[in-house]
Amino acid sequence: MPARTLVGFSSRRALCAALIAATAVAGLALAAVAQQSAAETFRAIAPVFQSPRCMNCHTNTSFPRQGDDRHRHTMNVARGASGHGAAAQPCSMCHQRANQAASGVPGADEDWHLAPLSMGWEGLTVGELCRHLVDPARNGGRSHDAVIDHLSTNLVRWAWAAGD
Ligand code: HEC
Ligand code: HEC
Repeated sequence: MPARTLVGFSSRRALCAALIAATAVAGLALAAVAQQSAAETFRAIAPVFQSPRCMNCHTNTSFPRQGDDRHRHTMNVARGASGHGAAAQPCSMCHQRANQAASGVPGADEDWHLAPLSMGWEGLTVGELCRHLVDPARNGGRSHDAVIDHLSTNLVRWAWAAGD
């Protein structure tokens, strides 16, 4: 299973390339969301945000998800009070600061944890997702620029290039 995991990630390079290209487009879409052309642009990049690499951490559930089929995280991993897992089984017990080739556990050079429930994207339509991303009441108090900056954090970068 571990080996398959990383092979699986690297075989998604085409998706990763699309994700990277979409980062720039996302900036444009978020900055000018009210404009029709931007709405169309956002519609085009929304599948990136809605990809399993992002959605598995942006859940509305009491647990993270895994894989392209977005199944419930195995081993009874729970969200916990702060998104860092249950006290006895924190995310950091397995997820380290880089992908672990031997065990197949993904990792990023940042504190690995779930996005808060208020940032759960499951079930949102494309329009709702767009409005969520630009709403400081729901996006962690971020300005448009801050949302774009956030897309360069190591946690999000991991999803851009999960197997590299
Ligand atoms: C390992 C878990 C994880 C993954 C994978 C992940 N995120 Fe997040 N994301 C978080 C956490 C945690 C926060 C909250 C950060 C904060 O506010 O300090 C967050 C917040 C955000 C926010 C700001 C809040 C919001 O909902 O508007 C955006 C935008 C975002 N992530 C985009 C992405 C994108 C795009 C991807 C996929 C390319 C992604 N994330 C993948 C954990 C993750
Ligand atoms: C007991 C070890 C363990 C703990 C604790 C753990 N994970 Fe995982 N996690 C794994 C393993 C192993 C994988 C890779 C599984 C696979 O793809 O085969 C994984 C994969 C994931 C993925 C899937 C990435 C993807 O897009 O497919 C996410 C998201 C994730 N974990 C989030 C979390 C979060 C958030 C926590 C804490 C709340 C957590 N994990 C706690 C072992 C763990």
